Amino acid sequence: MNSVSTQQLAPTQEGIATAANLLQDGALVAFPTETVYGLGADATNGRAVAAIFAAKNRPSFNPLIVHVPDVEHAATLVELPETARDLAQAFWPGPLTLVLPVKPGAVNDLVTAGLPTLAIRIPAHPLAQKLLRTANRPIAAPSANPSGAISPTTAAHVMAGQNGKIAAVLDGGPCKVGLESTIIGFDPGPTLLRPGGLPQEAVEAALGHPLAAYQSDIPNAPGQLASHYAPDARVQLNVSETDGTLLGFGAMESTLNLSAAGDLTEAAANLFAYLRELDQKTDIIHIAPIPNIGLGRAINDRLRRAAAPR
Ligand code: TXA
Ligand code: MG
Repeated sequence: MNSVSTQQLAPTQEGIATAANLLQDGALVAFPTETVYGLGADATNGRAVAAIFAAKNRPSFNPLIVHVPDVEHAATLVELPETARDLAQAFWPGPLTLVLPVKPGAVNDLVTAGLPTLAIRIPAHPLAQKLLRTANRPIAAPSANPSGAISPTTAAHVMAGQNGKIAAVLDGGPCKVGLESTIIGFDPGPTLLRPGGLPQEAVEAALGHPLAAYQSDIPNAPGQLASHYAPDARVQLNVSETDGTLLGFGAMESTLNLSAAGDLTEAAANLFAYLRELDQKTDIIHIAPIPNIGLGRAINDRLRRAAAPR
């Protein structure tokens, strides 16, 4: 079914220019951000956005995050109430997505799945910044994995899932953060919609109060699919000792260790790549307990979904 051959673009002026041209022409281009690789399309082009859903095999009721290079661009697409501006000031560019009231006609309706809000993000990765400025339009981009699978943190991961389905991947090496962005909504007050690469504690410190926790049975709630980020292997959590395959954390014997030093930032950056590596080797992956603080909350969220029954 391979209808296009996927170009692998180097992180050069030429690679960026080619990627930007392809996006402007309505093609799909995967690109690096500091969190994970995104599968980008022009957010104002309905055909291009529809192609994302096809490439990912994703249920179309799930709305997409739009990427722009700076707050000035963001302000042309969404309303930015004062609390949102404060968070933007503190954490953009960075691993934070804000869900805000969308301005009429700002993006194609497929991007928001008909919701009155838009999820928007300003990535810090220099290549993403250059690509967004060169393409000069809002870029819709979910994580560049097939729906339900582990998010890609290298260009090779993208190729493993999307080769032949997308026009190009811009290769920026491994992602520094390694977990998707933290998503905050404002309906009515600041609410954590998805734990991610910006620790909840950092957002709460900037706000000066705790975030509301999100609870919903609505299908367009973020990450509402229990099974997600899933390897083919079965995943068993909170295992400290086993004769089988163990993904470790901290000082312990293990097949691979997310961070022997017990550093959650290092663990987050390694998580998806190590899950993929162990998935090649075994049918059951045991995973050591991860402290539920800071980035550990987002790591545990992804691990629970990886372990959920399918
Ligand atoms: O780090 C990231 O956020 C990566 C990079 C590529 O930016 N993107 C990413 O996108 O993780 P995706 O599509 O895999 O996850 C987006 C999440 C989904 O769970 C979706 O439901 C939620 O954002 N979302 C998007 N628009 C929304 C909206 N208007 N209201 C509530 N949730 C929304
Ligand atoms: Mg995703």
